[in-house]
Amino acid sequence: MTAFQEDRLKTYLSAERIAELNAELGARISTDYEKLLKPDEQVLVVVTLKGAMFFAADLLRHLRFSLSIDFVRLASYGTATKSSGNVRILKDLEVSPEGRHVLVLDEIVDTGRTLQFLGNRLREQNPKSLRIAALLDKPSRREIPVEVDYLGTAVEDKFLVGYGLDYGEKYRNLKDILYLDV
Ligand code: IMP
Ligand code: MG
Repeated sequence: MTAFQEDRLKTYLSAERIAELNAELGARISTDYEKLLKPDEQVLVVVTLKGAMFFAADLLRHLRFSLSIDFVRLASYGTATKSSGNVRILKDLEVSPEGRHVLVLDEIVDTGRTLQFLGNRLREQNPKSLRIAALLDKPSRREIPVEVDYLGTAVEDKFLVGYGLDYGEKYRNLKDILYLDV
């Protein structure tokens, strides 16, 4: 596949729509955690680099409870548009999730391999609770069932770029989420 050409990128979700989804998700998550958390408890938010950095920056500012942020970087994609099927850790957490309320943020659930791997790995370390939030879901591509607790919206089976999503590390900084119109 040749590189995407900017003039063939079509808007799939506008920056305004993304902002609405984040506000809705943030409100739902806040309501739930306000009930779940005891007064002295806080949440460890685990952000999957690099794609979820924009989602995390926007969503986290809607959350109305005490939290800390840590990052993991997992690789299953390389630079192509197809999952390689196995997941590697390129950067691990800096704090232990043991005994903490853990909220994982990913920008998109595709085959489900990344979140299954990360979810299992976190569960082995005995968090107090573990929930997953994702902005986008491509249900038609799922290979492994993954329970996503908070989902922004389902999307069609299109390769998307922008708002953190890349094609060969390009386009992450675009404000909208776009697809290649062929
Ligand atoms: P999964 O392990 O197949 O669920 O893949 C999850 C990861 O693949 C996401 O966190 C993204 O980094 C990447 N990915 C999946 N779909 C797309 C896409 O449409 N555009 C760019 N990256 C994607
Ligand atoms: Mg990702």
